[in-house]
Amino acid sequence: MEKVLAYVGSNRDRYLAEVKDFIAIPSVSSQSNHQPDMKRCAEWVAGQMRTIGMQNAQIFQTPGHPIVYSEWLGAPGAPTVLLYGHYDVQPVDPVNLWTSPPFEATIRDGNLYARGSADDKGQVFIHLKAIEAYAKNGHLLPVNIKMLIEGEEEVGSANLDAFVRAHKDLLKADLVLISDSSMFAKGVPSVCYGLRGLAYMEVEVEGPNSDLHSGSFGGSVHNPIQALTEMIASLHDKNGRITVKGFYDDVRPLTKAERTAFKKLPWSDAKYAKQLGVAQLYGEKGYSTLERLWARPTLECNGIWGGYTGEGAKTVLPAKASAKISMRLVPDQTSAKAAKMFEKHFKSIAPKTVKVKVKALHGGEPAITPIDSPGVKAAVTALRKGFGKKPLYQREGGSIPIVVQFKKILGIDTVLLGFGLPDENAHAPNEFINLDNFFGGIRTAVHFYNELPGEWSKRVRKGR
Ligand code: BES
Ligand code: MN
Ligand code: MN
Repeated sequence: MEKVLAYVGSNRDRYLAEVKDFIAIPSVSSQSNHQPDMKRCAEWVAGQMRTIGMQNAQIFQTPGHPIVYSEWLGAPGAPTVLLYGHYDVQPVDPVNLWTSPPFEATIRDGNLYARGSADDKGQVFIHLKAIEAYAKNGHLLPVNIKMLIEGEEEVGSANLDAFVRAHKDLLKADLVLISDSSMFAKGVPSVCYGLRGLAYMEVEVEGPNSDLHSGSFGGSVHNPIQALTEMIASLHDKNGRITVKGFYDDVRPLTKAERTAFKKLPWSDAKYAKQLGVAQLYGEKGYSTLERLWARPTLECNGIWGGYTGEGAKTVLPAKASAKISMRLVPDQTSAKAAKMFEKHFKSIAPKTVKVKVKALHGGEPAITPIDSPGVKAAVTALRKGFGKKPLYQREGGSIPIVVQFKKILGIDTVLLGFGLPDENAHAPNEFINLDNFFGGIRTAVHFYNELPGEWSKRVRKGR
């Protein structure tokens, strides 16, 4: 172990150079002009897997972007880890708000800035280098590893489900490991045990059959933008609760123990508000900020458009207005039911003056993962050794829909070992990964693979 860890310590510059190459491939999954980059990025990942000693590296084509797989099965009797991550990234717009070019990884103030540095290329890279550190030092990895790195996570993983179903044997493993989330705070490592789900909707409100002169016609028909915003405004009541009928029916209440545990976490609303630049926080009454972020469902308008938004003034009463609306879900809500309830409710509140269309774009299920598992125990020890601090337990507000699907299809639990930070600007301009987290992440991953077999054999002995 000492040799492996010393190797990690002495290869920092090379790691930075290599991760820059990975990041330089603009693998934006949602934009079709980046399709060749997606292919190139999948090949880069497969090539890396081969150089670090992973075997059977393969690129699987899908109707969307390719999936990269490889394995190392040289530890008979030891547990098999299915390592999942994604090589695709979010678009970079608005690009003028980036301090340095989004695909040129740049170090400032101890952070590495670039699109994908934290979400999720940087975190995938952490594991590639931890595995390499074993291979390059004549050590056999103490566990078996299957790596599954997809290219469609940021667009809803449309083809991953079918892939997992079709390759159950290939993907057979004892647990899933995912590094695609954040630590609680800088210098405060954590294990995550909960993710929210998602139901993403698009709505359109149609008024007159054509755009109209707002002078000649204003006053005679309901402006679709007005109708839409009135409807959207009514989706929350004065207590910040969502008014969609039946929406809270399946929400699992927070337990007393969990509320107490959240309260013990080092948190300040005032600091958080200041960090976000708001005078006051907002949300569902009766719940703390962490409760609202991690364990309560929400509804957000992600975008809204209609009418004239170009330069100068144009007096127009538009024919249509639209919005993207998403709901974050918690156990035991399901995305299908939430989408259906939303559609029914939204149509029911439509005034007679307009026509309303509702479309469900994609969804994912919320997840709670067990914290008494051998995988989590190994993660706790690994974080303690990698960062020199005992980790906290936390949930997250974001979504990784495949977690629940792994459980359903492969029957295995996931360990969420995140090395990002809550203020890492994921999906926004100036995304970064903190370098202490980057190198600490590699050390932690090395420790995780070393700790897991011991924890796993304890579990077998206990017969759990
Ligand atoms: N890495 C995130 C998920 C995440 C964010 C986990 C924050 C924990 C904390 C992932 O890449 C992501 O952005 N997921 C999408 C899912 C969607 C596209 C189905 C999300 O949460 O919006
Ligand atoms: Mn991610
Ligand atoms: Mn993301």
